[in-house]
Amino acid sequence: GEQTQRYRDPSSAMGRKEVVREELGSLHGIPLYKDFVEGWPQVEAFQARPDDLLIATYPKSGTTWLSEILDMIYHDGDVEKCRRDAIFNRVPFLEMKAPQLPSGVELLEKTPSPRLVKTHLPVQLLPTSFQEKNCKVIYMARNPKDVVISYYYFYQMAKIHPDPGTLAEFLEAFMAGKVAYGSWYEHVRGWWEKKQEKQLLYLFYEDMKKDPRREVQKILQFLGKEVDEETVSRILHHTSFQEMKKNPAANYETMPTTLMDHSLSPFLRKGISGDWKNHFTVAQNERFDQHYQEHMAGSDLCFQMEA
Ligand code: A3P
Repeated sequence: GEQTQRYRDPSSAMGRKEVVREELGSLHGIPLYKDFVEGWPQVEAFQARPDDLLIATYPKSGTTWLSEILDMIYHDGDVEKCRRDAIFNRVPFLEMKAPQLPSGVELLEKTPSPRLVKTHLPVQLLPTSFQEKNCKVIYMARNPKDVVISYYYFYQMAKIHPDPGTLAEFLEAFMAGKVAYGSWYEHVRGWWEKKQEKQLLYLFYEDMKKDPRREVQKILQFLGKEVDEETVSRILHHTSFQEMKKNPAANYETMPTTLMDHSLSPFLRKGISGDWKNHFTVAQNERFDQHYQEHMAGSDLCFQMEA
């Protein structure tokens, strides 16, 4: 194709289809991986089940963390059961499509109920079936400064992405909504507008960092589940950053290295709030704040930019 094949991975020899960095395609105006766009008809026609729980996030907002917490809740804190498979198989990624891997929809069709379903779709693109079946949704948002830094490292390690360029360039792309899944502002605001609906729980990464026990209690209440304190403690321990980082079922290390190269940046990278301070220049921060004010104007949605 065009001038898209900027990067060839030497480890993908031996006749395997090569994963190359490619420019993003577009799904109803949202920048998205071309493979995902190709798989869209199956996603749009997806049949949700009433007891599906949807985990929705903008990328890099704590999706994997929330997924592990929910799988632990669903298995009453049984650590061994939660090691049964990699997180991307235990909680299938709805719109995922990549060469040589089963698609998200294929995985979900084989998953017994009650299913946990991961998506990064903006609210307006959610397949209608979730609404029709009145499925519960947990949305998790994270402050945009930490999201953009986390995304910058993720673009480097996950080769489905185009080359992110310099951080300065990536910041501009992020602010302009020209990254995979489009505008962070529209994403968090779009889902926030649905939160008056009883079926949606809106959480924040920063709250989960500050007081994970309180947030897990919120989730349990939302799900109508009773879990004893000891089990909650086990869930919190197993889903801590340190535990997840060393857990091959949670840290994405079992993904083919042609797709994710952890030597460039580990998937569980830092897991803190405020890492943007180690990356933004004063000028970048001022520009970002200005842009943030403009794009969050008129919303009562608030973010904590640091711990
Ligand atoms: P950093 O790159 O800032 O470290 P997602 O799962 O949505 O892709 O989000 C990934 C981000 O969540 C990464 O952020 C990752 O380190 C962080 N993360 C994953 N598990 C975590 C945990 N148990 N505690 C805190 N942060 C976690």
